[in-house]
Amino acid sequence: METETAAALKLVRDRLLRARKVVAFSGAGISEESGIPTFRGSGGLWNSHPIEEVATPQAFQRNPKLVWDFYLERRRDALRAKPNPAHVAIAGWQERFSFCGVVTQNVDGLHRAAGSRNIQELHGNLWQSRCTQCERVSEDRALEARDLAPCTDCGGLMRPHIVWFGESLDPEVLATSARWMRDADMVFVIGTSGVVEPAASLVRDAKRCAVFTVELNLSKTALTPVVDVSLFGKCGVIFSRADGSGLLEQAPNRRRTKLSRWLRD
Ligand code: APR
Repeated sequence: METETAAALKLVRDRLLRARKVVAFSGAGISEESGIPTFRGSGGLWNSHPIEEVATPQAFQRNPKLVWDFYLERRRDALRAKPNPAHVAIAGWQERFSFCGVVTQNVDGLHRAAGSRNIQELHGNLWQSRCTQCERVSEDRALEARDLAPCTDCGGLMRPHIVWFGESLDPEVLATSARWMRDADMVFVIGTSGVVEPAASLVRDAKRCAVFTVELNLSKTALTPVVDVSLFGKCGVIFSRADGSGLLEQAPNRRRTKLSRWLRD
């Protein structure tokens, strides 16, 4: 592990120049500079909204309205946000590398709004809901508290299409993510505490397959001992250093789509 030094940055940039396949593995920290709160740490969502009240299947059974209100608030946060230089730079990588994938734990849609196309959403999507009976997934852009909406197919109760604590990830999403990360030349682990499984193990698996792994975070995490290089600081700042020491130059501004516009399109 190396701390953020000029040498570490140079090593990362040299590797990037030779890389053909890169994957960005992201967590809530990548959207922090877009104004979306993270989950843990001071000001983290789980401090003010205990997990067992809003993010488990039992919580939804007990009080679906409370859980929906929590996720509608998350939608309103996401709608106010726009991709920051980290999302934008990663989207720009699609034009530089033969493959650029995004494996994200985030549900906010900001990678897509920035223009990324190959995205695996490990923990679901804030803008979809799913029937608790027939499992039908549908687009859902409601923003305000409402009566609980029944499934238009079977009348079942609709729930957020989010993977809650105690639930399994979609096996196809997990398998594709694992394949992308094992096959990559470089994996960037951006803005995640690395404490939630099985997501965090994707990084360990990639490392075992000799993939060069780079972490971008404000401080040390559970994955710091695992990765090859850690760059400490705000990821948006690291990606966009105006003095040319950023990872790669920024993609053009036209990629900076406001989420609200993407939702309208
Ligand atoms: N730049 C880089 N890193 C940042 C920034 C920033 N601007 N801001 C915060 N961070 C880092 C924090 O230091 C922390 O390590 O982002 C991380 C956020 O950690 P968490 O809040 O735990 O978010 P995440 O790792 O995405 O959580 C994983 O847990 O609760 C579940 O389903 C939820 O997908 C989420 C999962």
